[in-house]
Amino acid sequence: MAGRQIKDVVRAFQARDELAFRRAVNEIIEEEEARHHFAIARDLRALLAVGSGARQTDSLFTLPPAPKSRDNEWDLIDVRIPELDLSDLVLEPSVASTLDEVAGEVAHWEELTSAGVPKRQKLLFTGPAGTGKTSAAEGLATMLGWPLGLVSVDTVVSSYLGETATNLRRVFEFARDHRLVLVFDEFDALGRMRDDSSEHGEMKRVVSSFLQFLDHYSGPSILIAITNYPGLLDFALWRRFDEVAEFKRPGVHAIRRLLRLRARAMRVKPFATDEVASALKGLPHAAVERFVYDVRREQILRGEVSASRVSELLRGIRQRAW
Ligand SMILES: Nc1ncnc2c1ncn2[C@@H]1O[C@H](COP(=O)(O)OP(=O)(O)O)[C@@H](O)[C@H]1O
Ligand SMILES: [Mg+2]
Repeated sequence: MAGRQIKDVVRAFQARDELAFRRAVNEIIEEEEARHHFAIARDLRALLAVGSGARQTDSLFTLPPAPKSRDNEWDLIDVRIPELDLSDLVLEPSVASTLDEVAGEVAHWEELTSAGVPKRQKLLFTGPAGTGKTSAAEGLATMLGWPLGLVSVDTVVSSYLGETATNLRRVFEFARDHRLVLVFDEFDALGRMRDDSSEHGEMKRVVSSFLQFLDHYSGPSILIAITNYPGLLDFALWRRFDEVAEFKRPGVHAIRRLLRLRARAMRVKPFATDEVASALKGLPHAAVERFVYDVRREQILRGEVSASRVSELLRGIRQRAW
């Protein structure tokens, strides 16, 4: 543990800045893990988790209250402290560097703006399910030390005509008044949900008012729209975003990396990484992760996992719909 990291922790405490505090402790955890000091890393993680459980009542850091739907009943955004770290993900190099660049640029936003260069703050994440889009958005928030806001698209799209626009306005006003990473997860649902009632007029209005709010936004936050269905989006939509990050299913090499990453804490690894990686080829990251958790669960519950049991677990993973 370096002196700098301890100083970061103390400074974060003095500033009563819980996000900076978590970031500093997470850095220490990663370094300890890299040095194979798993016990201290695990204990620190557990201690941080206890802290986050208590966050509602006695947190050092207060999150802004979420905006409500027009009937004041539901939260339009789930606002929380991000916990996931980008280093826990295996990302395409192009996606990883986009995230790094965007995050690194934040410190220069003022300079860019005064030079008349638009800041990059509107991102589109596309790609199949289980490839880390939602996790990467959270990881970006962790990296920046900003709160994470997950927009509840279902709540925003009200069944009452006209309310949807009000809800959307509230969401964007929140991102104007507070600095956060605001995520419109599966935002294509803004358009799709209305489809059932075949109210195409209303559907178009929802999407076009979303796009208008997006176009006019230049506040302090980063906005991320996520979709599993890039095919549904036309180019008029793509060009509204400053960056488009395309998430892909992992190749064998990436699967191997993810297997190693998730199996890091295992004392005994009852499978050969290369073999399992070929068996999982074509599946999303979520499936790879799931396999490791299945093995670890059995190890904890039964003590030992045989080679034939590993094959069975693999078969189970492959048979699921991903
Ligand atoms: N690229 C990745 N690297 C590591 N783990 C991943 C990755 N993508 C997904 N996962 C794991 O799979 C699960 C689902 O990921 P998520 O971010 O919700 O995917 P998406 O939003 O693309 O559907 C998470 O638990 C996450 O840890
Ligand atoms: Mg997701």
